[in-house]
Amino acid sequence: MVADSPSDRTQGSTVGNYLEGKSVAITGAGRGIGRAVALACAAEGANVVVADYGVGMAGEDPTSEVADAVVTEITDLGGTAVAVADTVTTMAGGGRIVQTALDNWGRIDGVVCVAGILRERMLFNMSEEEWDPVIETHLKGTFTVFRHASAVMRKQESGTLIGFTSGAFSGSVAQANYASAKGGIVSLVRSAALGLHRYGVTANCIAPIARTRMAANVPQGLAEIGDAEDVAPLVVYLLSDRARHITGQIYTAVGGKIAVWNQPMEVRAMYKDGRWTPEEIEARLDGTVGSEEMPFLKELEARRAAAASGEKPNA
Ligand SMILES: NC(=O)c1ccc[n+]([C@@H]2O[C@H](COP(=O)([O-])OP(=O)(O)OC[C@H]3O[C@@H](n4cnc5c(N)ncnc54)[C@H](O)[C@@H]3O)[C@@H](O)[C@H]2O)c1
Repeated sequence: MVADSPSDRTQGSTVGNYLEGKSVAITGAGRGIGRAVALACAAEGANVVVADYGVGMAGEDPTSEVADAVVTEITDLGGTAVAVADTVTTMAGGGRIVQTALDNWGRIDGVVCVAGILRERMLFNMSEEEWDPVIETHLKGTFTVFRHASAVMRKQESGTLIGFTSGAFSGSVAQANYASAKGGIVSLVRSAALGLHRYGVTANCIAPIARTRMAANVPQGLAEIGDAEDVAPLVVYLLSDRARHITGQIYTAVGGKIAVWNQPMEVRAMYKDGRWTPEEIEARLDGTVGSEEMPFLKELEARRAAAASGEKPNA
């Protein structure tokens, strides 16, 4: 169903025509943050592919009902959306998600890769069955969609790629699989930003924190939390024509906070003429150069101490 005017889509919410005429595909759009992003994009005038495999928290029991339900929500509000209940973990699945936008609206202006699962375990206990599907869903699942979309966007000479990472990309205790996938997404996005800049295509990353079923699964709790809807406006902005100059960024979005991560770069160096010996390195890596404590380690120790003393950990 196509809206007659932006006001038909509003139904009392704050919306307009920020993305009028754009076609976007959003993975993981059946629940949580992806759903909020899909609704916000549709409310701003975009045609939306609602891509969701409809799986449980660990990636099990797929159903098409999850994507269909969000399409119904959008069309009931006067927006335009099509469901794809496919997995992002295969090249064919990623291809169908992008092709659905092309078949329906003739173009793909943005892809937002939100789909994700969790299989938590300490590294020393983690099985291949816990590692592979998490990497496949997050990292490969971003690649499959970016790969197909970027080929079209390169020819269009415009487009927006958005990956979903997590603060866990900087390290996480019982999520070596998830943290590795999220770190891979950061590097994938940064590589896409560099490789596609000359074609007018941008690539950026969002690390959200929001009350969803996934957040409820994080054992240690979250120090900051907001709603899924709080993440959506940043995505809408990045997809818009107003953000064509923004690429290669990683943003945190939680509640009323939007933060930007630093650009990875060397922070210190030491030099000598010729090759270092291990003894010389030992003498120099002395707590001031290259051996600083990871900032998060202190917090972890505080949490352990609080848990041992029976206090409820705050983060
Ligand atoms: N919620 C948070 O606080 C938080 C924090 C950091 C990062 N994130 C990231 O944000 C994204 C969204 O998280 P959420 O909390 O909304 O999760 P969610 O579990 O509510 O939704 C994820 C959706 O992805 C879909 N999905 C899973 N595997 C799929 C596959 N193979 N193909 C297609 N769809 C698939 C699921 O069916 C589900 O509807 C994830 O990438 C997550 O890692 C979330």
